[in-house]
Formats: sequence, C-alpha cells, structure tokens
Amino acid sequence: MKLGCCYYPEHWPEELWVEDARRMADMGLSQARIGEFTWSRLEPEPGRYDWAWLDRAISILGDAGLSVILGTPTATPPKWLVDQMPDIVAVDADGRPRKYGSRRHYCFSHPDYRKECARIVTALAERYGNHPAVTGWQTDNEYGCHETTVSYSQAAADAFRKWLAAKYDDVDALNTAWGNVFWSMEYRSFDEVDPPNLTVTEPNPAHMLDYRRFASDEVVRFNRLQVDILRAHSPGRDIMHNFMGFVTDFDHHDVGADLDIASWDSYPLGFLEQYWFSEEDKLRYARQGHPDIAAFHHDLYRGCCKHGRWGVMEQQPGPVNWARWNPAPLPGMVHLWTLEAAAHGAEFCSYFRWRQVPFAQEQMHAGLLRPDGEIAPGGEEAVRAAEDLARLDLPETPAQAPVALLFSYEADWLFQTQPQGKDFRYVELVFEMYSALRQLGLNIDIVAPHARLDGYKMVIAPSLPVLSQELIDHLAALDLPVLFGPRSGSKTADFQIPPELGPGPLQKVLPVKVGRVESLRPGLEEVFEGSAVGRWKEDIETDLLPELSLESGDGALYQQGDFRYLAVWPSAKMAKQIFATMASEAELTVHNLPRDLRLRRAGGYVFACNYGPGNLSLAGLDGLPKNAEFLIGTSEMKPASSAVWQKPGEEAPQ
Ligand code: GAL
Repeated sequence: MKLGCCYYPEHWPEELWVEDARRMADMGLSQARIGEFTWSRLEPEPGRYDWAWLDRAISILGDAGLSVILGTPTATPPKWLVDQMPDIVAVDADGRPRKYGSRRHYCFSHPDYRKECARIVTALAERYGNHPAVTGWQTDNEYGCHETTVSYSQAAADAFRKWLAAKYDDVDALNTAWGNVFWSMEYRSFDEVDPPNLTVTEPNPAHMLDYRRFASDEVVRFNRLQVDILRAHSPGRDIMHNFMGFVTDFDHHDVGADLDIASWDSYPLGFLEQYWFSEEDKLRYARQGHPDIAAFHHDLYRGCCKHGRWGVMEQQPGPVNWARWNPAPLPGMVHLWTLEAAAHGAEFCSYFRWRQVPFAQEQMHAGLLRPDGEIAPGGEEAVRAAEDLARLDLPETPAQAPVALLFSYEADWLFQTQPQGKDFRYVELVFEMYSALRQLGLNIDIVAPHARLDGYKMVIAPSLPVLSQELIDHLAALDLPVLFGPRSGSKTADFQIPPELGPGPLQKVLPVKVGRVESLRPGLEEVFEGSAVGRWKEDIETDLLPELSLESGDGALYQQGDFRYLAVWPSAKMAKQIFATMASEAELTVHNLPRDLRLRRAGGYVFACNYGPGNLSLAGLDGLPKNAEFLIGTSEMKPASSAVWQKPGEEAPQ
C-alpha cells in the first residue's frame, strides 16, 4: 500500500514546492493528489487557461518521485461561470438556490454546466493525460457532500420528466405504478409531474423514490461524462472518485462500475461525532473513532468497484474542523488507521492534507505539517506507518471474505422516504450487523444486492425491501446459511405492498408471512435474554416454530433449510448469537473479541487493532495463536495500537 497526501500547491508560495516534495518523499510518501478545486486558477477568465503553474507543480512532484493523482476541478465552478449561467446552481428542498461562496454549488442536471465540465476536463486531460508523473485521475470531489445530490432546480425538473417518460413510456403506467388515484394525484402527461418538494404534506412515496433513483442516475451520468473524456485522453491511468463516509444519496455501486478504483475519505472522529452513535460510544471512542467506522467503509467501497480495487483518498491526520466537537486522535491512531486500511486491502492511503492552511474555511483542520511547516503528530505517525508497512508483504488483491453482507442504496432511500418509525435507519441497521460480525473476528465483504455470491460461506441481508426472485433463486442454489432482516420483501419495486405481503418472494423458500408490523419508541422495548429489543417488530404467521423468541413469547427468528428471517431489529447480543450459529453451520471459526479489539486477516497475516482507551492483552485470548510471530507490535497492546503477526504455518505471500 502506497502512502500519499493531498496537496494544494496553489495555496503556498512556489518557493516551498521543491522542499515540500522532497519532504514528502523523505517521509515515505509516494503519491500526491492535487488540483481538485483549482478552476479559478486554471481558467481565470472564460477561455483563458493558465497551465504554467500546474506544469511546474506536477514536474516538481514527479521529479521527487511522487506519482500524481490529478483532480478535475468541477466541484468548484468559478464566479465568472456562475455569473454567466446563474441557473447552474442546485436548488434545495425548500426551493432556495444554493449560493456561490463555498463549493459544490452546481446542479448535476444542468445541461450547460455539463458542457462546461466536459470542456475543462477535456482541456486538462489533453494537457496532462500522457504526463509521466500523472498516474491517475479523481473525478470532481465527493459527490453528494453538503447535501447536493438531490436538487429541485428547473433543470432537474426537466430531466426528471424525461427520465420518467423513458421509464414508464405511458403516463397511465406511471399513475398505476405510483397509485395516483389516491388523493386525485393523477397526471395527464409527464410534463405535469414536478419534483416532490414543497407539497402540503408528504409527497407520494413512490414519487419520492423515483426522484431519488433519478437523482442517483444523474450523478452516474455526470461522472461518466468525465470518465469517458479521461479514458480517451489518458490511456493507462486509473480513474477514481473519492466517496464519503455514511453518505448514501446516490448508488455508489453504479458510479463505481465506471471507475478503476473506488476511493473514500476517512474521518473516523468526525463521523462518530456527527452520526447516530450513543453518547457513551461518542465519549469512549472520541479520540479513536468507533472500532468499525473505518473498516465498514473499507469493506463497502472495496465492493463498489471492478476487481475490488480501492484506496483511502483522504485520511484524517489530526483534529478536523467540521464536526460539532473536534478532538485530537489518541497518539497512535493515525498509525492504526493506516494499518487498518492496509489490512483491508487498500492500494493507497493518502492523508488530508499535507500542511494545515492558515486561511479560509479549513484553517482549523490539521495536516501532516503545522501551518508553520513543523511536523505535526499525525506526520510523525505517517512516517512510522511507512516504516512498518515496509516490513509486510501484502497480497496485491484482497482475498474474498467468507461473509457477504448485502448493501442496497435503494433500500436506504426507500426507508428514508418511509421510515415508519423515527429511528428505523437502514444504514445503522447494516452497521450494527456488520459490527456484530466483526466482533466475532470475521472478515466481511459488503456487496451490492445484485452481486454474484458464489464462493461465500454465509450471506446476510440486513434488510432488502425490494426483493427479487432472482436473488432468492441464486441463494437457494448456493447451499449456505442466509439471513434476511426485518422489512425484507416488504415492498414491490413500485413502492407498493406486495399482494402476498412480506417477506414477498422469500415465502417460497421460507413459509413465513408478515401479518402486521409496528415501530417502537425508545423505552417501548421487548427483551431477549436480558438485552432490549426495540424500534421494530413484526407479527409472523407461520406453522414453523421460532428459532429464537422474545421473553414475551413472540417469535423473533424463523428458519427453514438454509434461510432465516429475522422479524425484529435485533439487539447486539441477538445479532451476535445468530451470526455465531450461522458461522458454525458454515464451519467458520469465530472469536468472542473484547469490545475494543478487532481482527482482520490479510495474506498470511493477522492484524489486531485496539480501539479502546485501555491496555489489552492478546495472550490467552480465545483462539489466538500462542507462538505467533509479531512483525508489528506485541501481544500487550496499548490504547490506539495495532499489532500484526504471521498466522502460524502460513508464509506471507512472496
Ligand atoms: C472532505 C473534502 C476535503 C476537505 C476535507 C476536510 O470532505 O473532500 O476537500 O474538505 O473533507 O475534512
């Protein structure tokens, strides 16, 4: 795995560039991502390009032995462009145009903005496409950041109508699919259909879901435009995009299908602070991040791209500026995050950013260097990580994991549209199940619901509301334990309740029918072996006896043959118990890891990470080898430390 950094030569006097590049190389970095916000410097006035500074920056980095990933600047259309075409800006759900003055102020659907993007990307690709130092491209920057995927602009409305016409052909088909007879919502032509915002009460959920699908397709189309240009002008270079943490507003599997490498931006402390985690977790892991946040995304994005190629484009190096609170990572965490990425098969880990910038929005965001150029604690850990990684010989391609977890972006849009209970959050359900699997020490691949599942030993679908017969048939042919979580098969693709009720087509292989569902407010809970089961519960009609029941006597889990259906939002204890049973059916070894410890196998190595605030001893841990040969760390693990040992009897790959 290469180490790199995100560098902004345009922020610094040119006198610093040579020294910066030399210091990067001396620190063990071999890659720099540059350029993604530079439109106003590349084209200061319409049609007048200024390449000279970028020519020099790229040569300096290349001369120092760094490979360059060049970002296209389309996340930041310059002022003159916005003034020329004021309606390229996105419009929010309240109908307010997003203003110029930060970034991502464009609407994916605007045809003239797409032309402008094609023009600047072509110019850039023609100039640098064959430059020996340029080894890869990043399209735009973080699609979806700052809630910019779904836009309610005029351009989006026009494009949506075309999208609907292509999908339904006949407006009566749309009326039937959406159930528009309800509340007199029937349309006489596609031109009458508006985006689903500013309605008096909630819009038709089918209307909303189609709008989310449309918005996602617009991102795919926008990205593909750039990918096609870059491929044509820059043969042999890898094309990437940097995805985000817990952002699901577009289908990353669809965007990833056009990329060579899926990358993502890893800010574990910021994500812990900003998302749903309990106050207790937020305090316990404030300086480490929840033990599964980074790993979850590593495994998710590995599954988003051809051949499983992926990397970390931006790695948190110290405190960030954008969360509610921004603590400093514990000493050791930047090193640990780097090793965790390597353990999951990243091709590169690139720290954001090289030097903390003293001006503008991100002046409080740490870099590898302080604003005065002194090395920051994160920089020192990057050096240590580079030295440690040099001792490992990791396989080029990560091996298939034994466990597949199915992740559906569409499921998330569907449940956001119709949560039915305030805290039914799909991503959280998936994350909790992922975490339960990881606490058993299992390697996990997170894959698309349409992925081929041959070769896996067990498959978990935390919830798949729109369940296809093909998937059931595919799984039935594989002969492995499978679990479907609550609300699976509960909707048709048109967002209707299926005639046979939930779990839809699963009923053919597992005779259970969901007669009624209920959501439960916090505190309104059932009990499973001392643990609280809340949020969601279904009444199951079946002749089968439940495999697991709640203390009330109601069934929670049903099984027939290889298939299981879970009729509740499980407690962590229940999830672990179910997965341990399935793993033993699949003849997989599991560990009962302490709360703060995680393991990951890669090549002939086992990586262990201690995410806890206290010391941890690996000695005597259930199933861990006695005579392990440690290449990094020891069996006595300090907080925020990692250890790597060779699996006994297994050679590291040559
Ligand atoms: C990312 C973004 C970077 C920078 C960074 C700060 O979301 O891609 O440009 O803003 O966050 O943490």
